[in-house]
Amino acid sequence: MKKIIEQLAEQLKTAFAECGYEEKYGMVSVSNRPDLCQYQCNGAMAAAKQYGLAPIEIAREVVANCWDNPMFSKCEAVMPGFINITLSNRFLSGTLAAMAGEEKLGVTCDVPKKIVIDYGGPNVAKPLHVGHLRSAIIGESVKRMKRYLGDEVTGDIHLGDWGLQMGLIIEELRDRQPGLVYFKEGYTGEYPKEAPFTLSELEEIYPAASAKSKEDEEFKERAHQAVLRIQNSEPAYSALWQHIMAVSLPDLKKNYDNLNVHFDVWKGESDVKPYIADMVDDLVARGIAHESQGALVVEVAEEKDTKELPPCIVRKSDGAAIYATSDLATILDREKLYHPDHYIYLADKRQELHFTQVFRTARKAGYVEPDTRMDYIGFGTMNGKDGKPFKTRQGGVMRLEYLLKEVEDAVYAKIQENRTMDETQARATAKVVGLAAVKYGDLSNQASKDYIFDVERFASFEGNTGPYILYTMVRIKSILAKYKEQGGSEPDTGALAGGTEREYSAAETDLMLSASRFADMVEKAAEELAPHRVCQYIYELSNAFNSFYHENRILVEEDSGKQVQWIALIALVLRILGVCTDLLGFEVPDRM
Ligand code: ARG
Repeated sequence: MKKIIEQLAEQLKTAFAECGYEEKYGMVSVSNRPDLCQYQCNGAMAAAKQYGLAPIEIAREVVANCWDNPMFSKCEAVMPGFINITLSNRFLSGTLAAMAGEEKLGVTCDVPKKIVIDYGGPNVAKPLHVGHLRSAIIGESVKRMKRYLGDEVTGDIHLGDWGLQMGLIIEELRDRQPGLVYFKEGYTGEYPKEAPFTLSELEEIYPAASAKSKEDEEFKERAHQAVLRIQNSEPAYSALWQHIMAVSLPDLKKNYDNLNVHFDVWKGESDVKPYIADMVDDLVARGIAHESQGALVVEVAEEKDTKELPPCIVRKSDGAAIYATSDLATILDREKLYHPDHYIYLADKRQELHFTQVFRTARKAGYVEPDTRMDYIGFGTMNGKDGKPFKTRQGGVMRLEYLLKEVEDAVYAKIQENRTMDETQARATAKVVGLAAVKYGDLSNQASKDYIFDVERFASFEGNTGPYILYTMVRIKSILAKYKEQGGSEPDTGALAGGTEREYSAAETDLMLSASRFADMVEKAAEELAPHRVCQYIYELSNAFNSFYHENRILVEEDSGKQVQWIALIALVLRILGVCTDLLGFEVPDRM
């Protein structure tokens, strides 16, 4: 379906051409003076330079050519040469009816692209903390947006599963239980199927080992060696590594399920081990990598760089594979499996250098096609009210589940103020709304920006918050239910096109206009990988709805034609909000 803006531009382009000007001047944009008009065309200003005329002269001429177009209720030239456009009721309501008739509400799906999105990226056996929250929340939303546009998206969690934490855990275990069979010299038998630790033991072992490594150099060195031995698949180390994975993964899955974040692929850095030796040989053989201080590196600096770019290390001097090694090998794996048109990575914005190095190496080595798009969404930090990275009251790293619980409790308290629900219902609702509060609080900021985690603000039912959006949706649901109870029929999308002879109030027009802009917004948001645009939009749409709601008494409206149209309109608004909240990755309760 053609967007309103495209249809307007078509008309204006024809008018410019018919008046003897280049049609490119007929571009139209949403008005930046909504008090004066809904759309505007600024082309006469640019054309004036080319044709040596006054802008207003050109604008008047173009308007004289097209003012009577049935799409407009008003089309006028104003000083110094703007063309201001207001849509006719017939055109606006007809557009909404057409939109409601489409499954994807007017979104145009281009040729589907193959996309791999690498997000979540937790480090196995370390507690999930708020730093991983952003990756999961933003990545999930970007994935859903791309899918909505019809792309073929694979979401991969890309576990950090053979980092130093694994070595630390194993060596700490050795110190605590040296008698375990894994640590017996010369042992060649089978290893037990049961892990020698439980999840809660594991959760305690890692921080202890990490603290010890900061004081004990020998211990730290042993841990590094252990990582190398895992990478070299030494049986005892592999067996322990398997145990750590087996104990940690179910818990990770549970945590992500609670966040309503779902991965298609659960691979990790260790899965690409089979590629590494050949990849490194290939890079050396083709002269792409060379030795530098014992390590193997790829030069990635380019002439256009304004900052110095250090080379990408693909193998450390002790032979260990590192972060960039596994990211490059992962590209080989993904090329083999999916041959994506587009890669999207999510990580803390401090990892920008790493991704620049990896992308450039992949291109230089020809591992991806020259036109493969590679994006890295570097996100900012979630800070506490003190403006410093978010910590617990004790100053430790806040675990995700505690953070969610805190927001949930705040929402629960608000729900209890209204006292319309029983305990179980209130708790269940608080869970859904609390998650929305956290996600919206995050996604409504541009990803690269830091933001302040503020429970009170996020959980508020008023203002630019997740609960406010949900509250608006619940309100619409309740009107629709009451309408049905009083004998009204199902919302009729055809009715959206009605009522063209009457005046629409400003609030009604605003709501219709806002609804009509959904497809345009979602296409842009997906292209720019920007969920905050979706938030911005649903906040505007919710405000438009609430103004309309406060102005009109929908359920007791006596003009039944009007009422049927309104019901269809708010049902469409609810549908749009439903799609958008789903794109953001949260759910909607029936009551609040
Ligand atoms: N595990 C990493 C971390 O915790 C994030 C992984 C990001 N993805 C990637 N392909 N490097 O920082």
